[in-house]
Amino acid sequence: MIKVAIMGFGTIGSGVYEVLETNKEILARRTGEGLEVKYILDLREFPGSSAEHKIVHDFDRILRDEEIQIVVETMGGLDPAYTFVKACLEAGKHVATSNKALVAAYGTELLGIARKKNVNFLFEASVGGGIPIIRPLYRCLMGEKIEEITGILNGTTNFILTKMDREGMSFERALKEAQALGYAERNPEADVEGHDACRKIAILTAMATGKEVNYEEIPTEGITKITDIDFRYASALGMSIKLIGSSRMEGGKVHAWVAPMMVGRDHPLYAVSDVYNGIVVKGNMVGTTMFYGSGVGKLPTASAVVADLVEAAMHMDSNIPIGWSEEKLSITPMSEGVCRYFVRVSGSYEDRKDMVQAVFGKSRVAELNGLLEFGFLTGEMKESGFMENLEVLKVELTAEYQEVLQVIRVCR
Ligand code: HSE
Repeated sequence: MIKVAIMGFGTIGSGVYEVLETNKEILARRTGEGLEVKYILDLREFPGSSAEHKIVHDFDRILRDEEIQIVVETMGGLDPAYTFVKACLEAGKHVATSNKALVAAYGTELLGIARKKNVNFLFEASVGGGIPIIRPLYRCLMGEKIEEITGILNGTTNFILTKMDREGMSFERALKEAQALGYAERNPEADVEGHDACRKIAILTAMATGKEVNYEEIPTEGITKITDIDFRYASALGMSIKLIGSSRMEGGKVHAWVAPMMVGRDHPLYAVSDVYNGIVVKGNMVGTTMFYGSGVGKLPTASAVVADLVEAAMHMDSNIPIGWSEEKLSITPMSEGVCRYFVRVSGSYEDRKDMVQAVFGKSRVAELNGLLEFGFLTGEMKESGFMENLEVLKVELTAEYQEVLQVIRVCR
């Protein structure tokens, strides 16, 4: 039996234990030996649970026990997860983690230690919950030059946006419902401000390019400014609004961002709703592929961690060449990106038609019953050019006591 330790017995950690117990025989067949949890590190006791006698409170028990060959990190956060994972790798133990904050912040260093020590640092569950996406990038798509990765990478915000779209809810009400159902945390900032999706697209971009990505360089906007009225326009234009994480590798440049975007009905991500995630990967030979499934949740995420345990078990004596090098990727500024834009303006369209056309040319326009405002879609243009035009429009509108009410990029 391969002896395993789980660090952190919260939702995901206890899910890993459950998957290992439920699929014990399948896993024994697939690994040849079977996987047995010897220790579970947590601050709490779990009286009455079948895992009760495996609970330890001292990390050194895991670190010093040479029988432990694979360690699962499901503690979350950076401290002490980083210190513990680093120590485990240095001690020659394989590590599987679900912790995207850890992978995004310290992935380069931890992958380097794993290489040096001839063990594996695996993180399938850090992006897309139960959706296989990391492994496809380093195995199935190995023959590809990845040109684009665009995804709905956060289940909580996708649930909120789906409620706003289908039930006409305000952002605040949809957030409360997400909190009541346990999807959104009491402090929902990491999800609704896009930080979680930012770390995930940083990891995917690093996997695709083989270079280190500083997630702080990725322009990130959340969904807090999206309103129910925006959804009425989206619907009138045959679209929805999704929080999109995207990176495009074009002409030697890499554009990456996280932002709420209008998504048309013909886009593969349009149908990805509720807490589901969807990730479109475009390769130069294979064309478009899409990965879809449960982006959140105990058992889906735990399943991805267990898949990494099997991967480690099958490569106990070798380092699988995954991840990225220490070479730093430079992210092209957002102003150089090309996009279409949806713009909402106060006042009647009839009165502003000439103004809008003079600044943006002929645009597709939408008006909603009962509202003294209108929305229009621009053609494709460089973001810097769009911003200049928008400033011109704002000045002209101000002179007439009107204003720009909203701007949302359109996903192509
Ligand atoms: N808060 C994350 C989400 C959890 O909503 O997608 C999974 O990473």
